[in-house]
Amino acid sequence: MIELSLADRISEIKYSPIRRISEKAARLEADGKRIIHFESGRPDFDTPPHIKEAAYRALKEGMVHYAPSSGIPELREAIAESLLQHKGVKYDPGSEIMVTSGGQEALFIMLQALIGPGDEVLVPDPGYGPFYTSITLAGGTAIPIPFRNEKSIAPDLDEAKRLLSERTKAIIINSPHNPTGGVLSSKEVEETCEFAKENNLLVVSDEAYDRILYAGSDYLSPASVQGMKSHVVICGTLSKTYSMTGWRVGYLAGRKEVIGAAIKVHQNVILSVCSFAQAGAVAALRGPQDCVDTMVEEYARRREVILTGIARAPGLSCPVAPLGAFYVFAKYQTPGLNSEAFSDLLVEEAGVAVVPGSGFGIRGEGFLRISYARALEDCAEGMERIVRFMSKHVETA
Ligand SMILES: Cc1ncc(COP(=O)(O)O)c(C=O)c1O
Repeated sequence: MIELSLADRISEIKYSPIRRISEKAARLEADGKRIIHFESGRPDFDTPPHIKEAAYRALKEGMVHYAPSSGIPELREAIAESLLQHKGVKYDPGSEIMVTSGGQEALFIMLQALIGPGDEVLVPDPGYGPFYTSITLAGGTAIPIPFRNEKSIAPDLDEAKRLLSERTKAIIINSPHNPTGGVLSSKEVEETCEFAKENNLLVVSDEAYDRILYAGSDYLSPASVQGMKSHVVICGTLSKTYSMTGWRVGYLAGRKEVIGAAIKVHQNVILSVCSFAQAGAVAALRGPQDCVDTMVEEYARRREVILTGIARAPGLSCPVAPLGAFYVFAKYQTPGLNSEAFSDLLVEEAGVAVVPGSGFGIRGEGFLRISYARALEDCAEGMERIVRFMSKHVETA
């Protein structure tokens, strides 16, 4: 056997904190324990039937071959129509949009196209883990940017300014935000865009949850800000909006130079996105949208149950108002336990799986991410268990 030597950059990538806790939960389940799964960001709904029908039809009609690398023309057009309708921004489906294998690939290939060794990108902290790992894998450096204050997900632009270097190329915005569910106000988006423009930074806008919004949110895409279209690349996905996580359909929208470069990376990784999944995605975007409203109404009910539970649980609070996505980022006061140890104890003792906040960056320590992409009854039972767990540990702490 040869002596194996892996690439150095791999040693910088940590094992996924979500997978770690899921695997622990699965072991406990195998031992007969009932676990409430608050760890996964996977909507629990079935994909709406008209979307499945369109994919079945495409399969029956022989849509089984490679698709164009940039995506089938109907889907690029449907994405352009949707962006115009929801964000008021006009994109050319022929040159400014490409179809990707989910939002994750959109982010990855875009960063591969943009970032080289030594380049830097400003990233929200706490923030979605793959922002950090995709930058590392591109040879660049992620610069974590804190929020302005505990209640906000707006980047602290004074700190961002201090951390700029001549290698800083982009700033990542993610609203609605994973892991907090926070949504940037339109003023905060405008301020961030101004900062990006002044400092010649591309705005990478991860809009995975752009259609999952609750009363009180003031959502705005940075691409919709006057004069910003050419400074923004949108990483979008159908995964969350239409409960299509397994279909792997997402997109990039932005300047043709960026899209052209990202297509070259895409051609060398997956070549093209599954053709019949793209046919389903066309039906998702062009078909009836009441399925989205129904899912968001159900998330809103679950969110109430989660927030009521947090308010009742001693030592738990939720500083950022969760106005979008299906997450809350709960702060805990249980001395002596870091978030990994806390989530291990919570799943072992109470049978509730959550993601430790440290999995989202240094500033996530002291928090737990609760996903309410679970049935209402599970949300209620999970919160009861958390209230009991906190009552025990806060009193005895
Ligand atoms: C912020 C954010 N961006 C992108 C994604 C990727 O989603 P997908 O690859 O399923 O489209 C996720 C998934 O959880 C996410 O939370």
